[in-house]
Amino acid sequence: MELQEKEERLARLREEMDQCASCPLREHCKAPVGWYGCADSPIFFVGEAPGGVEDDYGCPLIGPSGQLLDKALWSVQMTRDRVFTTNIVKCRPRGNRTPDLREAEHCAKVWLARELAIVQPKVVVALGSVALHFLGTPDMRITRQRGQWFHTREGCDCLATFHPSYLLRQSGHAQVQAKWAVFHDLQAARARAAAAVPGYRFASDAPPDLFALFPKRP
Ligand code: URA
Repeated sequence: MELQEKEERLARLREEMDQCASCPLREHCKAPVGWYGCADSPIFFVGEAPGGVEDDYGCPLIGPSGQLLDKALWSVQMTRDRVFTTNIVKCRPRGNRTPDLREAEHCAKVWLARELAIVQPKVVVALGSVALHFLGTPDMRITRQRGQWFHTREGCDCLATFHPSYLLRQSGHAQVQAKWAVFHDLQAARARAAAAVPGYRFASDAPPDLFALFPKRP
């Protein structure tokens, strides 16, 4: 599928998603938060669910976790405009609680599955256990699985790594170790995506200013 067609399909999907009221999570957030990035990216990052800042701005991973992810991506020569980032769950769960598997399955089957079908990435990176449980199986544990390749149900190469919010909760040596683990996972994911699409440009000259691109929502 050509880039333009992918962009058009994603734009139609977003319009549909903006109207979604198919589960109770929609009642307590401003609006669903979709995806951001290049529709043609060979690498596709899946977070958990929007937090307060994401709900305010309508951009995934724009708050503290997203800012740490941006730094980690930059350290392996990737920028958010050249990769694709999204979440398993599109509506912010009240009080930022972790979405349960039923909520994740419901939302991801309606939206994430269709995003994946349009973008057709070569590599999917699950950020944390909610994404891992949906993209892999519910019995997988992030501490055991991270850094190991597996296949999604659709047969896409997938690697799980720690969620940036986990890194933010760590301190001292544990934080340093976890950050290095993420660095190596991102390097491995980038290398596999680059091998699948030689010549793809994973980074712009500077990371995009997401707050300039996504004005605060009413
Ligand atoms: N955590 C996520 O997983 N996704 C976001 O968009 C924000 C925080």
